[in-house]
Amino acid sequence: MNGVFDDVKTVKMVHHHLFPLVLILLWNPVYSAPEQIDCCVCGSLELRSPKGLQPNIYPSPFQVLVKEKQYAPGGLSINVNITSLDNTRTFVHFMLQAVFIKQDGSISSDDSVGEFINLDEDKYTTVKDCGTSAVKSVDRLKKSLIRFSWKNGDVKNKGHIKFRATIVEDGGTNYWVRELSHPVEDVNLPPLDMRPNKQPLIPVINTEECGRVKGCYRVPEGCWEPYCDYIATWRKTAGNSYEIELGAMTDGVTDRYVAMAISDDIRWGDDVVLQCVHNGTSKETQVNVGRSVDDHSTVLEEQRVQDNAIIGPTEGPLGQIWGKRLRCRFIVSTGAIPGFPEGDKHILMSRGGASNGVSQRHGHGVGEIPVATPDQVSLQENHNVGDFARFSLVKAHGILMILAWAFFGTTGLLWTKYYKTMWPNKRFYGERYWFVAHFNCMVMLVLLVVIAFIIIFVEVGGYSRADYLPYEAHPILGIIIFCCILLNPIIALLRPAEDHKCRPVVNWIHWFFGTVGWCLAIPNMFIGMDFGKAMVPWWATWILCIYILYHIIVEITLEVHQCCTHKKNKERRKKTCWSNASNLIIRFIVNVSGILELQKDTLNKALNHKSASTFLDWLPSHKPSTGPSKITVWHLTNVDYK
Ligand SMILES: *[C@@H]1O[C@H](CO)[C@@H](O)[C@H](O)[C@H]1NC(C)=O
Ligand SMILES: *[C@@H]1O[C@H](CO)[C@@H](O)[C@H](O)[C@H]1NC(C)=O
Repeated sequence: MNGVFDDVKTVKMVHHHLFPLVLILLWNPVYSAPEQIDCCVCGSLELRSPKGLQPNIYPSPFQVLVKEKQYAPGGLSINVNITSLDNTRTFVHFMLQAVFIKQDGSISSDDSVGEFINLDEDKYTTVKDCGTSAVKSVDRLKKSLIRFSWKNGDVKNKGHIKFRATIVEDGGTNYWVRELSHPVEDVNLPPLDMRPNKQPLIPVINTEECGRVKGCYRVPEGCWEPYCDYIATWRKTAGNSYEIELGAMTDGVTDRYVAMAISDDIRWGDDVVLQCVHNGTSKETQVNVGRSVDDHSTVLEEQRVQDNAIIGPTEGPLGQIWGKRLRCRFIVSTGAIPGFPEGDKHILMSRGGASNGVSQRHGHGVGEIPVATPDQVSLQENHNVGDFARFSLVKAHGILMILAWAFFGTTGLLWTKYYKTMWPNKRFYGERYWFVAHFNCMVMLVLLVVIAFIIIFVEVGGYSRADYLPYEAHPILGIIIFCCILLNPIIALLRPAEDHKCRPVVNWIHWFFGTVGWCLAIPNMFIGMDFGKAMVPWWATWILCIYILYHIIVEITLEVHQCCTHKKNKERRKKTCWSNASNLIIRFIVNVSGILELQKDTLNKALNHKSASTFLDWLPSHKPSTGPSKITVWHLTNVDYK
């Protein structure tokens, strides 16, 4: 029995002591987070653990300092400090190494060089690592300064160096990887050259010679090269060799292209292209021969053509991107390019982005579409062209569409929305004024839209090739609008009689298609004006903006006015209906009269009828017995009795 009790006791005790133990075990990893840090991987100087921790991206509060600017392999040692900038922040772990650097200051190898001696051995414990060439801390003391002496004992191991260290701040969550010291030059080697761009600038394109010594195509007209959006020059050097200069203003400082196409027409596509492309990866500007396809260019595959056709200058690079200007200068041997067009041709220029040395598609917006000489020019002659070809069909499309929507569309809409109740008793060929106006406006709109639609299909030669937003949306919206525009007159023609029970439904469908077309047309007009081919000046967009705004204000005003006068209108409509009715009756009397004079009281009786139907019921029985047997009462049925 005793044993049993003892057992129970021990179980209880185990429970009693185990619980805090488990808690401590659980607590411990959190508590000892800094202890887990394992610094560092030789070479990359990344932390070995913890794995998920990201290095701090803010400037490090710790620095690797050296005073010396030079050292000699096998010579004297130099002092290196790892120090806290403001002494309030301290570091615990670190690893320090020296690495060789190239002439331009970039790291040439991750391997550690030389050997360190800890000058603060009495305070902090460090060990050598990475084959005794690097040094790292093994104590857990907080440090704000630790001094080393470094020496490259091997005379043959030459090279400029930098010191670098990974430093973990006290607390263990902040650390900085590969903090670099200033470079220390090897006295035996040529000095470092760390200028960012060591290539000489290629000379600007001389525009003084345009038209005299060489042919030029410049946009804007007569520009001086640094201000030209596009510039291409050509000068015959020998046989079928030409010196070509290409230049363009770019929107970036890297990875851009400027290209020149020799073409039969003013459109980019199926032409020989000379491209000047900046390759951001190799930081070089290359020239190649290509072919334009739709809105981009492909480089001719045959290396033989590229090598034989393009000859660079004897000295310096073929081209350069400097600031926001890209320019190339090269000699092209046209005989080496298969299918190089002879004779008078349009010269087209395109520019845009490039990726890894390959030119990208050109844009479709204002200032993005290629420019073309309005007339054909010959590379043999020293032309001086500054103008660019216009796309008259695109302009016609735009003008017709704006006329259709901004003028006829808005006007037609206003008539049907707000003028239905005006001039209730005036007619034009038997139709109410608003209807006549609305009908005519809409007929004009449909006509103009159909013409503009055909024009743009002819110009583009099929469906639009602009395949990115917002330009991609223009043809899609256009086709939807076109369908609405075609459906609506058909619906209007097939509509049932005014008093048919389906008439309101048809009216709503008519309204729906009209409204959808109109609502899509407004954004589509703005997208359209943004197309480069339309060549719309920037202020034209504002005029359209103001016009649309004005239209909206007019609509709102009319809407408010209609709302306020709705009640009044209803009463007035009743009145006008009746005055209208009496008017007609009098006309009817006039028609009939000469034969018979209706008595005054009969007329009064007629006017007492409150609705058309009762009046019409009443009419036959009171029809004059003599006179014309057929009396036109058509007008009466058409009166708006509400
Ligand atoms: C390293 O720190 C010590 C003590 O502050 C200082 O005397 C020495 O000049 C420093 N050395 C370097 C290279 O900064
Ligand atoms: C651009 O430069 C990179 C790196 O040098 C190279 O790999 C690539 O082929 C170049 N692109 C072209 C089109 O030459």
